[in-house]
Amino acid sequence: MATKDYIIAPSILSADFSRLGEEVNSVLKAGADWIHFDVMDNHYVPNLTIGPMVCQSLRDYGITAPIDVHLMVKPVDQLIKSFSKAGATYITFHPEASDDVDRSLDLIKDNGCKAGLVLNPDISIEVLDSFLDKLDMILLMSVFPGFGGQEFIDSVLDKVTKMRSIINKNNLKTRLEIDGGIKLENIREVADAGADTFVSGSAIFGEPDYSEIIQKMRDSLKVE
Ligand code: DX5
Ligand code: ZN
Repeated sequence: MATKDYIIAPSILSADFSRLGEEVNSVLKAGADWIHFDVMDNHYVPNLTIGPMVCQSLRDYGITAPIDVHLMVKPVDQLIKSFSKAGATYITFHPEASDDVDRSLDLIKDNGCKAGLVLNPDISIEVLDSFLDKLDMILLMSVFPGFGGQEFIDSVLDKVTKMRSIINKNNLKTRLEIDGGIKLENIREVADAGADTFVSGSAIFGEPDYSEIIQKMRDSLKVE
């Protein structure tokens, strides 16, 4: 895959929330493609983060890059509507958090956003079978959701490989995103397994120089 097809999406979960607008500007200026926006409700996951008002604030602040909203909430439909109005580009949710996955996917698309499903590390990819042609993105979690800074779960690599072959076999344009524990040391291996979209939180925001770390990630994706 050509390097330009890879997307790096820093997760603002690890940004300094007291200066979020500046942080988002800096990481985009440093070469990030998208902003990954983690929404947690203290119900579906045991943590509480940010909602549609913060997404809207980033748009009002002048952020034009794609915002990739990862809903870790239950239920999902009301927030799908709010986030689509607040400027989300992609909206992804966990299938077990919706009582009608088809309806929730349609809701995302009807509101003008791109739609995706997210699978936790212990959920098998067969769950996606009946939704494949509706998905702009498939997000495979490589940690259990809830917190940044966790270790990448190696067994997910096999799922990435299998998912990539299903996407290719069906000639789908679906992006294959990976989220959790992505860092310079493993991004290439995950790309080789078939992911094309990389969420990375602590490994980017934990560095003093965002340009340097993003450039190093791109270089490692480029190596023959
Ligand atoms: C985890 C979130 C991730 C997280 C990634 O629940 O969905 O997006 O912020 O953070 P790192 O890259 O630090 O694992
Ligand atoms: Zn996420």
